[in-house]
Amino acid sequence: MTEKTSPVLVEFDSGIAFVTLNRPEKRNAMNPALNARMLEVLDELEGDERCGVLVLRGAGESWSAGMDLKEYFRDNDDKPRDATLKARRQSGGWWGRLMYFEKPTIAMVNGWCFGGAFTPLVSCDLAIAAEEANFGLSEINWGILPGGNVTRAVAEVMRHRDALYYIMTGELFGGRKAAEMGLVNEAVPLAELEARVRKICASLLEKNPVTLKAAKDTYKRVRNLPWDLADDYIYAKLEQMLFLDKTKGRDEGLKQFLDDKTYQPGLGAYKR
Ligand code: ACO
Repeated sequence: MTEKTSPVLVEFDSGIAFVTLNRPEKRNAMNPALNARMLEVLDELEGDERCGVLVLRGAGESWSAGMDLKEYFRDNDDKPRDATLKARRQSGGWWGRLMYFEKPTIAMVNGWCFGGAFTPLVSCDLAIAAEEANFGLSEINWGILPGGNVTRAVAEVMRHRDALYYIMTGELFGGRKAAEMGLVNEAVPLAELEARVRKICASLLEKNPVTLKAAKDTYKRVRNLPWDLADDYIYAKLEQMLFLDKTKGRDEGLKQFLDDKTYQPGLGAYKR
């Protein structure tokens, strides 16, 4: 398999790893080869210093048309159950890794986004869509319910009525509607999508990476915890973060504000 024919492409630029789902002729539908490769890519990027932020995008006019209905579903139908289970582990595997990835992650939704693609979409920390992108929980249209944790992902970010409406009707909705419902952070014209994502990346790249990882994981974990456990978890995470941050960012941030007076935390990050 050459780099060009790989189901996943990785390019680096200015601290950003652009990870491209690369099956444009199949609208970037996720087949077992793509899912297996994504697991490897995430492993490779975890310790790669060229990746300060991971941006997940799709080749061509799609972000992803969801699971590959032929290779993921039909081709496994007559195989023993372990084949189905393996396929599920591969897809769920990389989506789960993405949810708590070491670096900040942004879904850059450049086009079609269907069904199974909602799980990696929600697993990314942030999501910016093109206004022209189209989304759909199309499972209902071909006779299944949203599996692969899509139902859970949708419940995480969308309002109750909106989620049920789209789960039950399978209707398409555009980028602006996705932003209005909280499925993505914002929608911008397609022509401005990459520039907007790069701007967010630049802001994230200024921040202390150890703090960023601790902050995003803490948010994702504590929202499902009772208050007393959340409080304890947050302090445990904070102290872990101070231990892991060999640059002593907190002390430096305090020094640059209180002693050096070179920045104001309310208006921006300390200089690393
Ligand atoms: N699985 C397998 N093949 C797919 C998928 C998919 N999810 N999506 C597109 N393809 C294939 C088509 O079969 C076609 O293959 P072919 O060229 O060998 O005939 C090729 O990609 C192009 O597809 P078209 O339908 O011709 O592309 P078009 O641009 O007209 O439409 C669209 C794009 C709307 C995304 C359409 O392909 C579509 O509806 N795809 C299915 C979307 C979907 O419902 N996905 C499943 C969600 S549920 C889940 O993920 C569990």
